[in-house]
Amino acid sequence: MRKPMMAGNWKMNKTINEAVTLARAIREQVNDVNSVDRVLCPPFIDIPMVSAELMGSNIAVGAQNMHWAESGAYTGEISAPMLKNLVTYVIVGHSERRQYFAETNETVNQKALAALAAGITPIICVGESLEQNENGETQAFVSEQVKAALAGLAAAQMADIVIAYEPIWAIGTGKAATAEQANDICGGVVRQAVGELLGDEAAATIRILYGGSTNDKNIGEIMTQPDIDGALIGGAALKVESYVAMVKTTDEVYQGE
Ligand code: PGA
Repeated sequence: MRKPMMAGNWKMNKTINEAVTLARAIREQVNDVNSVDRVLCPPFIDIPMVSAELMGSNIAVGAQNMHWAESGAYTGEISAPMLKNLVTYVIVGHSERRQYFAETNETVNQKALAALAAGITPIICVGESLEQNENGETQAFVSEQVKAALAGLAAAQMADIVIAYEPIWAIGTGKAATAEQANDICGGVVRQAVGELLGDEAAATIRILYGGSTNDKNIGEIMTQPDIDGALIGGAALKVESYVAMVKTTDEVYQGE
């Protein structure tokens, strides 16, 4: 069975002190909820202190981005070897990075390969815009994003990869996809694409998250869906109460199965 994951993407929020305070409170409340992988993804500058705060805990840290090269003349960038001992996960190809920082399917693939080479699990984001959704282009577009991101990877590596399906129209809008809609794309498009590329076993292994306006109210229904293995959470991950509630609800859903 695939282990569920609640990954918090803190985006460009939280000073170092605020980040440590939030991580500490989360640790105090859900350190022992071991049926759910808990991942906190603070801004780069907060990572060392948050990692130190979570040392010896059961809560993992992730970065929100990284460069694909190991080192070099890339002003302002951070590489996988720099992150290696500080994080377990890295978010790659978030739609905000694709939209505002010109990330492409090709750079997303390079980043995923570089993360894996460094022993960091990439959380690869895919998802269509409102316009694409309304034009009926979701399936073809998302399937292509998945296949491009996984180019050059082997089926056996799918246990060390996470894909997050995040429809752009649902991110930060308060308008989440319905649980059924999200499950249809996570299963019928994302998992399907992995299967077409790497076979049934790879498709059955890979963890697929839904992201986009998830919160403590809708997470229960989302987590009962068979093809959704967790959530990539933005706004609701910035507050202790909502993040903790989402972890606990997921634990209840999985314990109940
Ligand atoms: P949201 O963000 O939960 O605030 O919609 C999700 C994300 O962008 O990962």
